[in-house]
Amino acid sequence: MEKQRLIITLFGATGDLAARKLYPAIYQLYKKGHICEHFALIGTARREWSNEYFRQVVLDSINDAVEDQSHAEEFVSHFYYQPHNVHDQDHYDSLRKLATELEAKYDTQGNRIFYISLSPALFPVITQNLKEQNLLTDQGYNRLIIEKPFGSNSDSAKELQAKLNHAFDESQIYRIDHYLGKSLVHALADVRFGNTPLEALWNKTYIDHFQITLAEAVGVEARGDYYETSGVTKDMLQNHILQLLALVAMRKPVDTTADSLRAHKIEVLSHLRLYEDADDMRKHTIRGQYGQSADGELPAYRSEMNVAEDSSTETYFAAQIDVEMPEWEGVPFFVRSGKRMSHKFTTIDVVFKSEDTEEPNRLQIQLEPNTGYYIAMNTSAHDFQKKPVQIPLSYQYSEEALDNMPGDYERLIHDCILGYADSFNHYQEVVHQWKFVDRIHKLWANMPAPNFPNYPAKSLGPEHADELIQRHNPKAYWYS
Ligand code: BG6
Repeated sequence: MEKQRLIITLFGATGDLAARKLYPAIYQLYKKGHICEHFALIGTARREWSNEYFRQVVLDSINDAVEDQSHAEEFVSHFYYQPHNVHDQDHYDSLRKLATELEAKYDTQGNRIFYISLSPALFPVITQNLKEQNLLTDQGYNRLIIEKPFGSNSDSAKELQAKLNHAFDESQIYRIDHYLGKSLVHALADVRFGNTPLEALWNKTYIDHFQITLAEAVGVEARGDYYETSGVTKDMLQNHILQLLALVAMRKPVDTTADSLRAHKIEVLSHLRLYEDADDMRKHTIRGQYGQSADGELPAYRSEMNVAEDSSTETYFAAQIDVEMPEWEGVPFFVRSGKRMSHKFTTIDVVFKSEDTEEPNRLQIQLEPNTGYYIAMNTSAHDFQKKPVQIPLSYQYSEEALDNMPGDYERLIHDCILGYADSFNHYQEVVHQWKFVDRIHKLWANMPAPNFPNYPAKSLGPEHADELIQRHNPKAYWYS
């Protein structure tokens, strides 16, 4: 394995994401030998922490994964802390000096990753200063990792892109959608194109429809402020759901490069049918907001912290999405996502056409809570009646296999270090995703306020959700 040389500068080093996801992910990469003695991390944030304090925070965050304490201590010795106000130019000076010093100490050969885990409003000021204060090197690579959301609609995404492009060109920008770090999502193209029977049947002749479900048991937790401005359509549909849809619907990439994969996803995303008017929306979408659970244990969304008492923010959304490409004519993509549903389940169902059987054949790609693949196969009972029955052909990854799979952030940081851009969103993908969501919000703005709440917490969402699918196929329903 080639040992990677680099410095990561992390903006937002005292934050929750860093401790929960990033430090444990980077530790795994260190443990597995992807990064080694030629690596350093500079953590920055407003707080006045010392290196020692920072290292202790990192040690605490990786505690569960530590098998060898001295190796863990060696790992955290590569972490340095620099208090930083993103608006203060002098602070970039100190960052540059520290980076130069660490570059010599660890022989990182000018490779720099700048990871911004702060409010997107701060992306432009940071990137502009990185350039103007000469933090970008011309010896190795400069890469920028940013968290979602990339803008809050297509116009703001364009503006943001223009600002970032003053310092980083598109090939240097790594936009995170953490779903692309999930191992089974990563494997989708291999499943589709590496199995002759699946590839042969993956078309409108044999497929009746797709279902993509991202159901969550959690509510909005302490994020009411953010969620009020986003709702599920901006929080989950604009990114994760549309990415899964693109991977499921795209044509076979001509080669294995990131450019080719992303070009094929862009093709799908630019052919999503935009809803025309309020009638079209009523027919093809359902929005919901959770009320109190039937047992009274869980509060309604409107009673959550930092949520308006009369909020019309949607916590559930289901829709029929049509992809206007000839191969998907007549094959709808049904998608849904909601907070406070009965349980967490993340699945992609490929439902095949069936004329003569009671239940259709179905491939379910299971991300959570089970992780694996399931095929519903028709046979008959082994008695004289020969009654039709459906049996499962199923593969579930074992606990041990799951433990060995790289975590979402581990894969994403690994891929950024190696320059594998296919695990990240291209700007064009994001803009098309926004256009689809922008249209929904534009139409909602002129529709009467919804009658919320319309589903109890701990349920499967609004009761009439099956009607969406049954308009297409009266025998079909959502799989849970
Ligand atoms: C995030 C959303 O992008 O994804 C959260 O902001 C959501 O609201 C989370 O809970 C779900 O991710 P996962 O990996 O748990 O399905």
